[in-house]
Amino acid sequence: MGEIGYNRDFPEIGNLTADSNIVVLSGAGVSQESGINTFRDHGGLWEEHDVNEVATPQAWNNVRELVLRFYNERRKQLLRVEPNEAHRYLAELGKHFNTHIITQNIDDLHERAGSLNVLHLHGELKKVRSTVDENLLYELPGWELKSGDRCEKGSQLRPHVVWFGEMVPMIAPASELVKSADFIIVVGTSLNVYPAAGLLYDVARGVPIVVIDPSEMNLSSYSNVLHIREKASVAVKNLVLKMLANL
Ligand code: OAD
Repeated sequence: MGEIGYNRDFPEIGNLTADSNIVVLSGAGVSQESGINTFRDHGGLWEEHDVNEVATPQAWNNVRELVLRFYNERRKQLLRVEPNEAHRYLAELGKHFNTHIITQNIDDLHERAGSLNVLHLHGELKKVRSTVDENLLYELPGWELKSGDRCEKGSQLRPHVVWFGEMVPMIAPASELVKSADFIIVVGTSLNVYPAAGLLYDVARGVPIVVIDPSEMNLSSYSNVLHIREKASVAVKNLVLKMLANL
């Protein structure tokens, strides 16, 4: 494990070609500079809202109005924010390499920046689904999901997000992407939440992992990791420009 500055080169970058598989694992930190709070930083989302109150199946059963309001607020916020430099440079990366973004974020800022292959591990804020048939997925036209909004089979619609204690159905395809990656960029995630954090154990031996996150992190359980302690907007831009310059 090491820490690198901008003036040092990533030797592996020189070996990448347009056919290389680049996998980006992103978390709340990549959207922080767009104005969306992270979960665990000071002032993070869960400090204002107890996670146990809003992001669990129990909450859905017991305090549904609170859960609906919580996600309605998130959707309203999404209308006000824009992708930042980090989202934009990751989209640029996708034009030159075979790039897949695996995001823990439920916002759509990667897509709005122009990224095409975005896998949402924890669901998508703008989508809702049936509570009797999880295959019945709908794009919510506005920001509001209300009690009484029903699917075509007559059941209440719920946010299409993964709640604590629920399965993460997209973890299997995400794992396949990670296994075939030639270069991994991890940006803005505390790597505290599993199974997402465990994806890094699927990385093939010798594949470099660049972690972009301003906070101190214990990365000792992963191999071949370089930690750039810088904000996503700055570090992603810098890294992507280097990758393109070496192509
Ligand atoms: P966290 O809030 O746990 O971590 C955010 C990370 O972003 C921290 O390590 C910060 O240091 C870093 N960060 C903050 N500002 C940044 C910036 N400008 N640039 C780069 N990094 C920055 O968020 P996640 O790891 O995404 O799950 O959280 C994972 C999951 O926990 C979420 O998807 C959510 C939550 O519970 C569910 O809701 C299922």
